[in-house]
Amino acid sequence: MLENFMKNKILVTGGAGYIGTHTCIALHEAGYDFVVYDNLFNSSREAINRVSTLIGQTIEFIEGDIRDAESLKQVFAAHHFFGVIHFAGLKAVGESVAKPLMYYNNNVSGTITLLEMMSEYDVKNFVFSSSATVYGNPESLPIDESSKRSCTNPYGQSKLAVEHILEDLAVSDDSWNLIALRYFNPVGAHPSGQIGEDPNDIPNNLMPYISQVAVDKLEKLSIFGNDYSTVDGTGVRDFIHVTDLAQGHVAAFDYLEKQTRLNESGTTQQYSVGFLPINLGTGKGTSVLELVSAFSDVSGQAIPYQFTDRRAGDIASCYASVDKAKMLLGWQAELSITDMCQDTWRWQSMYPNGYDVS
Ligand code: NAD
Ligand code: UFG
Repeated sequence: MLENFMKNKILVTGGAGYIGTHTCIALHEAGYDFVVYDNLFNSSREAINRVSTLIGQTIEFIEGDIRDAESLKQVFAAHHFFGVIHFAGLKAVGESVAKPLMYYNNNVSGTITLLEMMSEYDVKNFVFSSSATVYGNPESLPIDESSKRSCTNPYGQSKLAVEHILEDLAVSDDSWNLIALRYFNPVGAHPSGQIGEDPNDIPNNLMPYISQVAVDKLEKLSIFGNDYSTVDGTGVRDFIHVTDLAQGHVAAFDYLEKQTRLNESGTTQQYSVGFLPINLGTGKGTSVLELVSAFSDVSGQAIPYQFTDRRAGDIASCYASVDKAKMLLGWQAELSITDMCQDTWRWQSMYPNGYDVS
């Protein structure tokens, strides 16, 4: 990071959650200052405490909802932010089908309220948690950022709706710098084993399901389909370590700072980032069976499984083209599937009940 931008302050909405906590650590290590704003709907104070312990200083944490304009106003009035990383949102695909209004209200209305407040306080640097889900069933692989977007469930629609809002905002006013990071499949945990993914209920996603089978919290994994046209018939995804993903956010802010600095130097033409979608993945596909086998090797535990029908809405294969992230942000994922399994296993075996230590 450039020296004269040390300690730029970032508002991290949803910073108590899975990806947010890991990103707070990466921001701290890169020399950024930050404030976490989270309503703790899907997270806990314990997660914040663990991050504080890991970075060796108390985190500035505000319990609040992104839909609460008054509460946000107080936060923006009290701090001078360089920008916002916006993780706050609901993310369960199945729940979004059952409760679409809750998802649109939280993910779309909440984001609009946040952007309005940013506009009022002239904070124009924004990094949004988008998702590979916006690509729907891809026409070709690897998926690059110009691929067609289409979604079939309310969760995906809410991410796509926000992307459209950001595109319109960029057109309306070129002082906005709006990066949409499209995550592929985040997995893994901090190497300390102190923080990780802590699903509330029975996990919907593959990695937490496997790790709960490994610690005997769940009996066996159901593998949804073994008749896809993939390497072994099971689904293929681009799993990315959450600490690599966290570094991707630092790289995005380093990029925004560099643009600001160039603009302020007066030596270049004013440059506007506008709306910039960027994939964060490894570029490599791994099948469900390959992940099960890697986890079993790393943990030394058998992972019993059975094949069941395909899950509605699932696609066969999905992995990212990662050239844009490398070219623009100078970022690429470093960690392997073995690292992802090792770190997940460490977190799961140290804390089988996640942040619930009662
Ligand atoms: P998470 O649920 O662990 O974190 C989200 C955080 O946002 C939680 O701490 C929650 O309490 C908070 N939150 C939710 N609604 C809020 C509101 N209205 N006001 C304030 N805080 C609120 O999820 P995560 O896995 O860390 O995901 C972070 C973001 O990345 C989400 O927007 C998610 O949709 C997106 N994303 C996640 C994945 C994934 O597989 N984990 C993949 C693609 C995109
Ligand atoms: N799978 C199983 N059994 C399980 C869970 C998953 O076989 O118990 C399979 C799925 O069928 C799929 C693969 O494992 O083939 C990955 O499934 P996940 O549920 O872990 O992840 P998805 O790719 O379906 O979706 C995830 C997030 C979405 C996000 C998307 C892209 O849940 O929110 O990645 O980022 F949009």
